[in-house]
Amino acid sequence: MLCDKYREFGKWIIYQIYPRSFMDANGDGIGDLQGIISRLDHIRELGCNAVWLCPCFKSPNEDNGYDIADYRDIMDEFGTMEDMDELIEALHSRGMKLILDLVPNHTSTDHRWFRESRKGRDNPYSDYYYWYDEIPNDWKSCFGGSAWQYDEQRGQYYLHSFAVGQADLNWENPAVVKEMQDIVDFWAAKGCDGFRVDVIDCISKNFETGENGLGPRLHEYIRALFGRREAAHLFTVGEGHTNDPEDFVLHCAAERGELSTLFIFDHMECGRKDKFTPKADSLASLRDYLVKWQGISADNDLLYSLFTDNHDQPQMISRIGNDRGLRYESATDIAMMVYLLKGVPFIYQGQEIGMPASYTSSIADFDDVECLGVYREMDKSLSEEEKLEKVNFGSRDNVRHPMAWDGSANNGFTGDAVKPWLAPHARGAEVNLAADLASDRSVFRFYRDLLALRSAEDAFTDGDFEVISKPEDPYFVFTRTLGGESWAVVCNFEEDQEIRLPFECESPRLSNLGRGEIEGKYMPYECAAAKLISF
Ligand code: GLC
Ligand code: CA
Repeated sequence: MLCDKYREFGKWIIYQIYPRSFMDANGDGIGDLQGIISRLDHIRELGCNAVWLCPCFKSPNEDNGYDIADYRDIMDEFGTMEDMDELIEALHSRGMKLILDLVPNHTSTDHRWFRESRKGRDNPYSDYYYWYDEIPNDWKSCFGGSAWQYDEQRGQYYLHSFAVGQADLNWENPAVVKEMQDIVDFWAAKGCDGFRVDVIDCISKNFETGENGLGPRLHEYIRALFGRREAAHLFTVGEGHTNDPEDFVLHCAAERGELSTLFIFDHMECGRKDKFTPKADSLASLRDYLVKWQGISADNDLLYSLFTDNHDQPQMISRIGNDRGLRYESATDIAMMVYLLKGVPFIYQGQEIGMPASYTSSIADFDDVECLGVYREMDKSLSEEEKLEKVNFGSRDNVRHPMAWDGSANNGFTGDAVKPWLAPHARGAEVNLAADLASDRSVFRFYRDLLALRSAEDAFTDGDFEVISKPEDPYFVFTRTLGGESWAVVCNFEEDQEIRLPFECESPRLSNLGRGEIEGKYMPYECAAAKLISF
């Protein structure tokens, strides 16, 4: 049984916003907080009751805000602290929660702490970062190249697990821990209801074993952040990089006072060999991961995070669905497979209109620091075309193009005369909210009905999960059961199928192609949910 606190969080439905790309209110081509405020009713209408904002703090934007220069101030392009206060108020008055992105592993090299630290070895900030006379190991930056950078001013090397401008904080220093606690408390006092915690498992280093992350003091540090009385009410989701169930328990078991939940990235394997290399795949692989983690979460009373896309992970429908001829069917089928499961749903901006992956024909069009680093280091034997194909496939820009609100030149994200910070999505003229709503096959309306069903029936939030289909079946059937009530969910994969069930159901409450009966012949990617009559 989930504890009461986790059961409550399981009723949250979280909409993730990439502020730079969501909505531009002042016409400078960059999304902003006023833009977000102007679209809150879209999010509420969809059925979400919480918003997670990617970082919106002062930053030189080497990694679009994940390089923070001041944790207590708003990025100039996004607005002011008054705008943030207004956003918090606008959310709370709609009964919605705010989740901010906390980046505890590193700061921008523009942060005051780093500017002080690099001045010398005997000021109060000297030990806020990792400094070495000689490069101590062969750690690589996740964005390419060495993780060690020489700093002329201090005459030493510092650690950057990500971009050169993202210096890793030294958590061994108690002053750093205190700074982060104060930042959590500062935002909680302002009304923030929770945090998504960036690369949480990197904050404790493992110099002995040579692993950059999952170090010996990790859990002590997480408890220092969130195990305190001041933070006990907060929802926290960690970005982890472990697929080990044991780690999930250590991070999230309720009595440990660490995190409410963790993003598990196991199913990101679906449809790709690695981040930049596709592989032919079926919805069956997604089903298998989901079934596995429903089991692990239930066995250990853990709150699981339900997601397919985010600002780092290009669209699942383009990896394992058919995002051309059967885009509506793929988008809605995958949504039903994922969002009627047990856990807390996260929906990334654009998913609700079935936004597929984008593409471009020149490396000069990319912004993502990760894909540019990977591109530079690609095998020299690859042709320019092959390299571009990989970058198009894996680039985080896929999920960072301006949100497509309508079919105008800049998709209603900003005025048509303005040049948005990143080019409009390659398929924005075809796939956008206005076109979706005008269609009789609206992904948005399906998502809205799906989330409404989830919110109306406690069986979907609190009920037990049971898989009914067999592992070899080319479809997914499961039930969710609470007390005397049970629901069946049927999601077909790529081929037509005749699907029979071992129980009787009412006619479907929701389906993507308007089914009258839960049993019978299913079209590719067809799905339906119905209440059981007897079981
Ligand atoms: C996380 C973020 C990603 C960022 C990185 C460094 O993985 O999700 O966007 O680039 O951390 O902060
Ligand atoms: Ca703007």
